[in-house]
Amino acid sequence: MAPSVQQLPEDIPAPSLEKLGITNDAPEEVLQEAPKQAPKQAPKEVPNVKRQIDLEGGKTDAKYPQYLPTWNHGQKYPPLEPFTHVEHGKGADATFKDLLPEGSKIQKLTPSIGSEVTGVQLSKLTAAGKDQLALLVAQRKVVAFRDQDFADLPLQEALDFGGYFGRHHIHPTSGSPEGFPELHIVHRYGATGSEFEAFLANRNSTVSWHSDVTYEAQTPGTTFLYIFDTPETGGDTLFANQVEAYNRLSEPLKERLHGLKAVHSGFEQAQFSRDRDGVVRREPVKNEHPLVRTHPATGEKALFVNTGFTRSIVGLKKEESEALLAFLFNHISRGIDYQARVRWAPKTVVVWDNRVTVHSATADWRTGERRHLARITPQAEVPFETPYVKGDVETKA
Ligand SMILES: [Fe+2]
Repeated sequence: MAPSVQQLPEDIPAPSLEKLGITNDAPEEVLQEAPKQAPKQAPKEVPNVKRQIDLEGGKTDAKYPQYLPTWNHGQKYPPLEPFTHVEHGKGADATFKDLLPEGSKIQKLTPSIGSEVTGVQLSKLTAAGKDQLALLVAQRKVVAFRDQDFADLPLQEALDFGGYFGRHHIHPTSGSPEGFPELHIVHRYGATGSEFEAFLANRNSTVSWHSDVTYEAQTPGTTFLYIFDTPETGGDTLFANQVEAYNRLSEPLKERLHGLKAVHSGFEQAQFSRDRDGVVRREPVKNEHPLVRTHPATGEKALFVNTGFTRSIVGLKKEESEALLAFLFNHISRGIDYQARVRWAPKTVVVWDNRVTVHSATADWRTGERRHLARITPQAEVPFETPYVKGDVETKA
């Protein structure tokens, strides 16, 4: 059997994806972007800007049409420059008194990963509350906040909120609302049962674990995803705890992984987009990151590999690299005892720490119902590791 490292999501034949309508959806990162084909009555010439609303005939039943994606082939951005990240979770008040005041409620989804919060309005948080948010999310890995007004804010206000946590990432192959390239839009609409079957003819599952844009030198940290339209059932987002994935390894293997680096590549994603007449707003990059990274706020060590973007381990021969990555990917993907599943509902904002988790969408509904979300993606520090320490298990959960 071929190692899973070669079975990249980008290998899926584009027509299958298009039929399923997950051109800019599913694994919110990997299977995303590139607009559907224009309807027959549209001019044959590819316009410089494609708009989802035009693809729907100029009118839409999307609840938040201002967040529908557009793809501007004229948008070109230079390579990202280094910046100094300030980790707001570091030193934040761990009593969370400004984040979780009296009357709010927090409940664990599983023992090691995931919490759900009600009775808090994120948009009203003070700076101290935002700092505590960063720490809580680092500790719990993913937190779902219900009954939020976030989607109703002016788009710039939502961005300003997210910008507190780091420099906004502009996705290289993403569609976005006009004038707001920093907003990463996840959108699937209209796929039917037979199209779903066509997609699954080439794959066993729509699950594709990844952390977002780990090919960047400074990968995202505290990351926000909020929903506008959701199918009645389906489209949950799965999260795996990469700290616990590290902790479960034997001491000899942990020790061996320390000091190793892996190559993370954005080239396949860019090519996937190009092949389908999608946008490539910034030229793709590769970066090497440690296999084990340390979180700057909690001190926890986490595996930092993902099937979406990690291609090889530096210094190992091809077979060695593929075998070790295949083991780690399998280890992470089957760790249901350190995973959480977030069910979406209107007005939900999900916040995760992209440094210590992997996630996957589930494209499991066949009704054609719209699923529409926006992601705000603040970048964080250059991934770093701290030395192996035998039996060093931080327990922050
Ligand atoms: Fe993603």
